[in-house]
Amino acid sequence: MTEARDTEARAILAQNDRGGYTVPTHGLYPYQWNWDSVFAAIGFAEHDMDRAWTEIETLFSGQWENGMVPHIIFHQVDPSYFPGPDIWRGTGPIPSSGISQPPIAATFVRWLLDLDPTYEPRARTLFPALMASHRWFMTWRNEDGAIVVTHPWETGRDNCPDWDDTFAAIEPEGVDEYYRRDTTHVVEDERPRRWDYDRYLYLVKLGADSGWSEPYLREVTPFRVADPTMTFTLLRATRDLRALAIRLGEPTAELDQWIGDMERGAQRLWNEEAQTYDCVDIRSGKHTGVVSNASFLCWFAGINDDRMLAQFDRIAEATTYFVPSTDPAHPAYEPKRYWRGPVWAMLNVLIAAGLAEAGHSERARNLTEATGRMIAENGFAEYFDPRDGAPAGGRNFTWTAAVWLAWASPTTGGTPWARSS
Ligand code: GLC
Repeated sequence: MTEARDTEARAILAQNDRGGYTVPTHGLYPYQWNWDSVFAAIGFAEHDMDRAWTEIETLFSGQWENGMVPHIIFHQVDPSYFPGPDIWRGTGPIPSSGISQPPIAATFVRWLLDLDPTYEPRARTLFPALMASHRWFMTWRNEDGAIVVTHPWETGRDNCPDWDDTFAAIEPEGVDEYYRRDTTHVVEDERPRRWDYDRYLYLVKLGADSGWSEPYLREVTPFRVADPTMTFTLLRATRDLRALAIRLGEPTAELDQWIGDMERGAQRLWNEEAQTYDCVDIRSGKHTGVVSNASFLCWFAGINDDRMLAQFDRIAEATTYFVPSTDPAHPAYEPKRYWRGPVWAMLNVLIAAGLAEAGHSERARNLTEATGRMIAENGFAEYFDPRDGAPAGGRNFTWTAAVWLAWASPTTGGTPWARSS
């Protein structure tokens, strides 16, 4: 059974390969997405190390002059996706979106290199590009060490309830008539609402009209939210970049400074009342009060906070498959709607790695096994219903196949960190 899934997973990576990069899935997402590609690389690493490196190199070929690595790179225009390059009007070397995504590349470049040190020359070539992308975050998205986003899509958690209050204060004026394509691929109940889309497009227009000027957006955008996905993945990736720097004989002073800043900044995300890490709206100063799967990335970031264990155990107890993207006890929880409830396997690998590293090995093992069962029984869906594991969203998904091969499969998996040691 699981070996058949291994074969299927490799076939999905091959089918979604467009030559040097993969699409997340055919139809729904026909371009290269930033963190999807990094996950794809760890899937390829299971059977084709050269292809794994190429995936990340192709991603960085879209890096902007200011260091930003876009969240979507439009290598070849495909009308089945909206909003496309004409709406985004990115200013990089390849048509792209104008925002980034959780910066996990340095973490997995380090991991690839641990698996096979003969690839060091390719890590050396990527190193300055990785530094530039971290520097972009620390220059433009750093609010006292907490990392902010200027669009929900930047966190990769598109419609989670964390954005609801900030969005309610936005009147999406001036957005042209548009026609969504996502709901031609997936049923509407599993996708964001129209209300959210109006605001997504409002923010895209605001950025595009400014020529994606970060200094301008920092002043004017109504959406500037510090987020655990960004803060925790960037803190983790900066630690990994530091390890790479030492390995490659590069200086570390700037990295040390960033790590210290973010260790302090991460504490800004601690919500004492809700006893969780959550988002903070920089404009209003308010915490969002949502326990999300991103809240549990604290351990991945190297923040060994036992206060989150009680939240983790409560939520694991309340669901058959965990970690749900939104706390089932939250009033906005919807078990099938995208980031408002479903389980995302690729977030689970990061949470499990963090748990294992912090010494919570039984919880890490339980999460690994539950994710493995969920995929073995339901296939390579984009996300899953926490109540019964029912597949939802897109199918034949690259990152679900990739994290199966690298981690959740009982035959080929194991935690990436355990495998590399
Ligand atoms: C959705 C997800 C995002 C992902 C993208 C492509 O926008 O929310 O995290 O990168 O799809 O799979």
